[in-house]
Amino acid sequence: MNPSIPPSTTEYGGDEVSAIVLDPGYSTTRAGFAGEDTPKSVVPTYYGKYSTDTEKYIFGDDIFVTPRPGLSIHNPIGRDGVVEDWEMAEKLWEYSFKSRLIGAKPQNPLLNGLNEVPEGELPTEMEGVETEEKPLADSPLLMSECGWNPTKAREKTIEIAMESWGTPAFYLAKNGVLAAFAAGKASALVVDVGASNVSVTPVHDGMVLKRGVQHSPLGGDYISSQIRAMFKNNSPQPITITPHYLVASKTPVEAGQPPQATYKTFPPDKAPDASYRTLLEERTLTEFKECVVQVWPGPNKLSSVGPNGVSNEELAKSSPGRPFEFPDGYNQVFGVDRYRVVESLFDAKAAIPDPGSDFAAPTQAQTIPELIKSALNGVDVDIRPHLLANVVVTGASSLLYGFNDRLSQELMQSFPSPRVRISAPGNTAERRFGSWIGGSILASLGAFHQMWISKKEYDEHGANIVEKRCK
Ligand SMILES: Nc1ncnc2c1ncn2[C@@H]1O[C@H](COP(=O)(O)OP(=O)(O)OP(=O)(O)O)[C@@H](O)[C@H]1O
Ligand SMILES: [Mg+2]
Repeated sequence: MNPSIPPSTTEYGGDEVSAIVLDPGYSTTRAGFAGEDTPKSVVPTYYGKYSTDTEKYIFGDDIFVTPRPGLSIHNPIGRDGVVEDWEMAEKLWEYSFKSRLIGAKPQNPLLNGLNEVPEGELPTEMEGVETEEKPLADSPLLMSECGWNPTKAREKTIEIAMESWGTPAFYLAKNGVLAAFAAGKASALVVDVGASNVSVTPVHDGMVLKRGVQHSPLGGDYISSQIRAMFKNNSPQPITITPHYLVASKTPVEAGQPPQATYKTFPPDKAPDASYRTLLEERTLTEFKECVVQVWPGPNKLSSVGPNGVSNEELAKSSPGRPFEFPDGYNQVFGVDRYRVVESLFDAKAAIPDPGSDFAAPTQAQTIPELIKSALNGVDVDIRPHLLANVVVTGASSLLYGFNDRLSQELMQSFPSPRVRISAPGNTAERRFGSWIGGSILASLGAFHQMWISKKEYDEHGANIVEKRCK
């Protein structure tokens, strides 16, 4: 049998079981049942590690809760969006579907710790209960991946799904294709502004046009780094983010006045690792992005001067600022700075320099308008107009206030045509979960059943079947 051609009869089918859709991102991992509107399980992709006698791990929202001594925070995915630590990625993904979707498998009730076992009656295996049943033995699994996931990583993914989780059927889909499906399109130019990356994916008839896929690190984490840079240069004073767990009490202060708070301190042997503080600071930064940050809507850059001689910066300064209160009570109204922190997504020269940042200064080629141009240059001229008429915006960082207005202005300048059209759902859940929702739709289509890679095919052809079937 040729593994690149799906079997003509459905080897795995049946509407009675729901497939599980798993959409792992750099900041959160989304899991849920195919056919549902939103993922039931959304967990941080970060996990905690600390040691007592042995090494212990914390998954899920519990990582935010207790600043244990020595607790450090890690992410199994690299900044480029590709898995670095497979062992932990497997544990974390497994947690994402076990914790909210499928629950624990039955086990011997004498072993669950709720029953006192009389002496002499040592528990024996219960008949008919498989003690080592694999977690997805009953569920087909559709997973998403970034458009630049290397072959090795794809093979490792199917291996985990088939061998560790025992899934009877598997498929790996590009998250750009899924986001297009979520928007009801089989062909689209998908602009995904996530946490670790911003990417542009040309999709044609449900297939990624590989030569056109572009990505750069100018995603949500980069925006956070620009906000930090702005805080360092803030006047009347630099702003330090002190997360809630370090604030014992606070009293309200006037805008711009130093915080009046008492702080919690941890002796060195009781303190969590610095990575714990960074994780919690990031939560405040996300709130700041939701409430304060604004994209200069255009036309033209923030630094441009309009026809009447008034610069866009002056215009931005004249619009009322937005207030924000930090966990220690410090509060301030943010004026034009709230535009400056995101301007470099469109204009690299506008980046706020910060020698202390993890992020190198961006290049113009990494900005969103340039990624779009490169993506289109990588595909056939004939289909470019169709892609431009179907620009799909997804990813939680695209929820930045004013983002779509600016993107439309940039597109109009680069590709003047009345047929250029952006489609971005107004509903925030659809923007956050675009690729998961597309997976949910795809996996519940009747016609999709023949696309699944069955366990039997995997056994016959090995992990490389994923390269042949999931294009
Ligand atoms: N309303 C909002 N406005 C702006 N940014 C937001 C908003 N809500 C969340 N974010 C940011 O969006 C990012 C998370 O986006 P998303 O969930 O799409 O990423 P991901 O899929 O986990 O990561 P990646 O796509 O890089 O693998 C975070 O950086 C977060 O701070
Ligand atoms: Mg993403």
